[in-house]
Amino acid sequence: MARLALAASPILFGAFAMKSRHILLAGAVALALSACGNSSAPADSAAPADAAPAAEAPAAAPVEAAPAEAAPAAASTKPAVVENCATTIESNDAMQYNADSITVPASCTQFTINLKHVGTMAANVMGHNVVIAKEADMAGIAADGASNAAEHVKEGDARSIAHTKVIGGGESASVTFDVAKIKDGGHKFFCSFPGHLALMQGSIQVQ
Ligand code: CU
Repeated sequence: MARLALAASPILFGAFAMKSRHILLAGAVALALSACGNSSAPADSAAPADAAPAAEAPAAAPVEAAPAEAAPAAASTKPAVVENCATTIESNDAMQYNADSITVPASCTQFTINLKHVGTMAANVMGHNVVIAKEADMAGIAADGASNAAEHVKEGDARSIAHTKVIGGGESASVTFDVAKIKDGGHKFFCSFPGHLALMQGSIQVQ
């Protein structure tokens, strides 16, 4: 850029003769300076380029927020497959069921839930069960059942409408219950293994 300014100065000399050489030199310096100013402009534009990723970061936040908004809707995005008044729910080593909603046909008098543990972890580490109860009773059932490792439901707990035993990786269990017991609505199926309730629950309703 400085070279450009110097190259321009002879033209300026020619145009204005020699009388104000110092002024022209000053102009050349000014050109050189402004050229430097221009050359620093790309550096400035590089700064916005750096800022661009930052602008993408806020953009990424809404993207993360979208799944978060989808989460409530996810309350019914994995309906269990129901056939012949029964369903099979899978559970895994990641503390998950593969279903978040069970719709029991109103034509069924009894309904069976088969639980499979498709993981490999032991029942005392990543055990799972399925308990059917009123939503308001879930936490109490899980808390009171903590010391009963085989079922994680306190013996004789009337709040449990039905529940399987606790199983580990590779195991299965099932439970059958009268559909009439959940016809009034507001029921959930969940795992009462300590700490699993938050992630492992879904709605169960008669329709
Ligand atoms: Cu569990």
